[in-house]
Amino acid sequence: MGDIPAIDPTKAPAWDTLDQLAEEFDPDLRKFFADDPGRAERFTLEAGDLHVDLSKNLVCPTLVGHLLALAEQTGVADLRDRMFAGEHINVTEDRAVLHTALRRPASDSLVVDGQDVVADVSAELAKIYSFANRVRSGQWVGVTGKPVRTVVNVGIGGSDLGPVMAYEALKPYVQEGLECRFISNIDPTDAGETTKDLDPETTLVIVASKTFTTLETITNAKVVRAWLLGALRSRGIVTDAASEAAAIAKHFVAVSTALDKVAAFGIDPANAFGFWNWVGGRYSVDSAVGTSLAIAIGPEGFADFLDGFHKMDRHFVEAPPERNVPLLMGMLNIWYSNFLGADTHAVLPYSQYLHRFPAYLQQLTMESNGKSVRRDGAPVTYETGEVFWGEPGTNGQHAFYQLIHQGTRMVPADFIAFANPTWALGDGDADMHELFLSNFFAQTKALAFGKTSEEVRAEGTPEAIVPARVFTGNRPTTSIMAPALTPSVLGQLIALYEHITFVEGAVWGIDSFDQWGVELGKVLAKQILPAIEGDAGALDAQDPSTRALIEYYRSKRTR
Ligand code: F6P
Repeated sequence: MGDIPAIDPTKAPAWDTLDQLAEEFDPDLRKFFADDPGRAERFTLEAGDLHVDLSKNLVCPTLVGHLLALAEQTGVADLRDRMFAGEHINVTEDRAVLHTALRRPASDSLVVDGQDVVADVSAELAKIYSFANRVRSGQWVGVTGKPVRTVVNVGIGGSDLGPVMAYEALKPYVQEGLECRFISNIDPTDAGETTKDLDPETTLVIVASKTFTTLETITNAKVVRAWLLGALRSRGIVTDAASEAAAIAKHFVAVSTALDKVAAFGIDPANAFGFWNWVGGRYSVDSAVGTSLAIAIGPEGFADFLDGFHKMDRHFVEAPPERNVPLLMGMLNIWYSNFLGADTHAVLPYSQYLHRFPAYLQQLTMESNGKSVRRDGAPVTYETGEVFWGEPGTNGQHAFYQLIHQGTRMVPADFIAFANPTWALGDGDADMHELFLSNFFAQTKALAFGKTSEEVRAEGTPEAIVPARVFTGNRPTTSIMAPALTPSVLGQLIALYEHITFVEGAVWGIDSFDQWGVELGKVLAKQILPAIEGDAGALDAQDPSTRALIEYYRSKRTR
């Protein structure tokens, strides 16, 4: 474990204090606001371009003091500094965790394990930007001389979720005439549906895989290669090994840390963009993994995106604890999950462009903090890793908000909105964006302050249904606003959640940067495949439930 300290947060004095406070905690947001007219202002912070209102959370200044004491006693700032300096804080893989180096200005320098990583990042970015410019300008052409119209990113997990989420979020910045598509699932539906109407002559495939061994990605890459070559063959464009190699060189590039495996797959390493093992998959959208995005929004847009991340990194390092947004949001999550019993956390963007943001955050937060042992291997004795989930508003309002308003569970929620819309539409009477935002403001107000039985009765509600129409309020929310959803603001939002995730993992004393929990299923899938294919011995080796399921599958399969 090197010299990264083992942490047991329950040994911190502030843990006991918070435990005791939680026992008799009976928050009343109406009263908190009435007693403290400066509350909204006191709890509203700026981080880069993000305007963050924490005042509707179930805390008072004293409680925040205890949460910050817990952060201090568990060494959050120390671990943060070690991360930024490139120490091997990913202890189970003995690796540095340096996604923050991906967005440092080129003029910086950071020597880690004998290598200036900022210089390496700049050199790779220059390659990516030059390639992106060639694709965007039509200088890079396919095997028949046609410019690229569609970029297909083949990847999964961190090699998919970040690029697809950011591409969807930044659609207004995408160059006209260019489109990105994404294939991730090993379900053949994904590759089939994504390629069915594509013209291979104008398609560029990016195979994105940190390890270049991931079953889904390598399988999909082979399937897409077969589709592309088959289609070109049927048009008489690919006729022999040489024209096949030429087609692959023009239509396939790769993104990976394993350039030898890229070559073995048949992609010329000259057409590959690299990154480093100190970039975790779920932290990699701002590395070469974002090449599809760099093509779509251009080097200038991508540089703004990186700049946004860096703004939030600086805020996280430089802002004092009581004004430090990722630190405070991380500690609020600890308060809710470890002391007030919340199991889940909703992220509710009031922006259709952010419709993949909750899915992206699921990997970021849950692959990072879904751990049961601490860095020293000792089992944790407290909850870790909330279930993150969400959907854009207002759609969610007509689906699951009922439970957040009146259910028995506490669901802390982050609401995200932007002052300026991309689409200035109206229905003739009202500005659509203002209708939209009135919902954003209304929801957090309703969740915080609720509606008492007296208020319900005063509306003339029949007594029998008064209880059903009461809103208890005191349901915690954070409101995050920004002027507009730009590449920079998206970078700031992603970095905000990266650092919230970091803070929680640091307090829990776990390794937020490994992901051993995804391994067992991968190994078993390999063992099960022969059983599905008909190997009697492999079938016999299965447990009774799995064996019966495979037998059912084999009995129903029609081809
Ligand atoms: O299986 C989990 C995982 O390792 C993620 O952490 C990662 O983002 C994803 O698979 C894809 O990995 P790769 O980029 O190496 O293909």
